[in-house]
Amino acid sequence: MLEFSPYQPTDEAPVCDIWMQAFDTTADYWPHYTRRMGPENLRVLRSESGPMGVLGVYRMGQWFGGRCVPCGGLAGVAIAPEFRQRGGAKRMLTGTLRELREQGVPLAALYASSQAVYRGVGFEQSGSRCQYELSLRHVGLSDRTLTARRVALADPAPFADIHHQRALRENGHLERTPGLWERLLVKLPADTQYGYVVEEQGRPAGYVIYYLDDAGPNEPTKIFIRDWCALTPGAAVRLWTLIADHSSIVESVHWYGPANDPMLAYVAECKPSMMKLQRWMLRVLDVPAALAQRGYPGVTGDLHLEVSDPVFVENQGRFVLSVKDGTASVEPGGRGELQCTARGLAPLYTGMFSAATLVQLGWLSGTPEALATATRVFAGPEPWMPEYF
Ligand SMILES: CC(C)(COP(=O)(O)OP(=O)(O)OC[C@H]1O[C@@H](n2cnc3c(N)ncnc32)[C@H](O)[C@@H]1OP(=O)(O)O)[C@@H](O)C(=O)NCCC(=O)NCCS
Repeated sequence: MLEFSPYQPTDEAPVCDIWMQAFDTTADYWPHYTRRMGPENLRVLRSESGPMGVLGVYRMGQWFGGRCVPCGGLAGVAIAPEFRQRGGAKRMLTGTLRELREQGVPLAALYASSQAVYRGVGFEQSGSRCQYELSLRHVGLSDRTLTARRVALADPAPFADIHHQRALRENGHLERTPGLWERLLVKLPADTQYGYVVEEQGRPAGYVIYYLDDAGPNEPTKIFIRDWCALTPGAAVRLWTLIADHSSIVESVHWYGPANDPMLAYVAECKPSMMKLQRWMLRVLDVPAALAQRGYPGVTGDLHLEVSDPVFVENQGRFVLSVKDGTASVEPGGRGELQCTARGLAPLYTGMFSAATLVQLGWLSGTPEALATATRVFAGPEPWMPEYF
């Protein structure tokens, strides 16, 4: 008989062992990992002989259309190898998703190592994180008009408001918990990181958090930006100049952005190599709550949905999403003119795929009028986030 229950202090040794083996990591990171997530947010799958699996949840939010929607960020999903392919992960995921739903959390997000596991419980690709590399030779910017002020990384305060301003205008950004901030500010294994804030007209307008990495004696030094953000053109050129001012020893810079990253619009030569594309997945846990809680800037319109959801029957049925001047309300009923699964709804909700693309993928169907309305209602900036969790 299996039991799925909260993590206890006595679980530390066996659960850390499962996690180390699953992610090929070391025990010294476990205390930091659990502190950053909050040990109360870990769940353990047990058999009579002890723990056989674990997962954790960052209690965060995700920004869509200028509103923050509560979201559980699932991480560290692991089943001991001798127990794999017997439904253990599925059991942990459905238990956790139901718990989040019952606590009023309408969304769950994660980065998947194997999509099939998560698609099976209603997650779908919903946004991106692109890693770029650009040679400092191609930056071609030299503007030190604004001051770049070095700030300590002990506290997210100098960065938090700038990040918030960006989150308001992007889709998919996280409302970072203190633990998620710590993951960006303090690199483990230990490496010195640097933080700068750029101010314009007395107001913070940009930041960068980065470290220098020398891959070996004959390898060029690179800058790795953990996160950066420019709210104005002046801040963007100052940040690029600050990075380019490392060119005597640094050859190139890596950073994370959306596929259509505006930071590349500033540089002299747009010749990055896109190193890696990651797509995060989203699960709409509570369809009416998720629809009602996001923002729809500048939109007015009604959408009559019919949703099917094999995991949460509560999501099944017809709903009318009514948006007036950007604010939504959701009522049961209506004509069901747009049909989708909760899984197919996720990339529409985030704005990753238009309704027309989702029809092509076979994840959505509807009347031409409903498809046009859905495309308009969910249109917005490409959903992305700079962090991995
Ligand atoms: C990924 C992992 C958690 C899956 O655990 P598991 O208990 O074997 O998964 P389940 O038995 O619950 O499988 C659920 C479904 O996913 C499928 N699945 C499981 N592992 C899979 C894999 N590696 N690739 C593709 N499909 C997989 C199963 O066939 C099953 O499909 P079904 O519902 O259609 O029958 C486990 O392999 C693991 O711990 N891996 C190492 C750590 C890791 O990658 N964690 C995920 C981080 S996001």
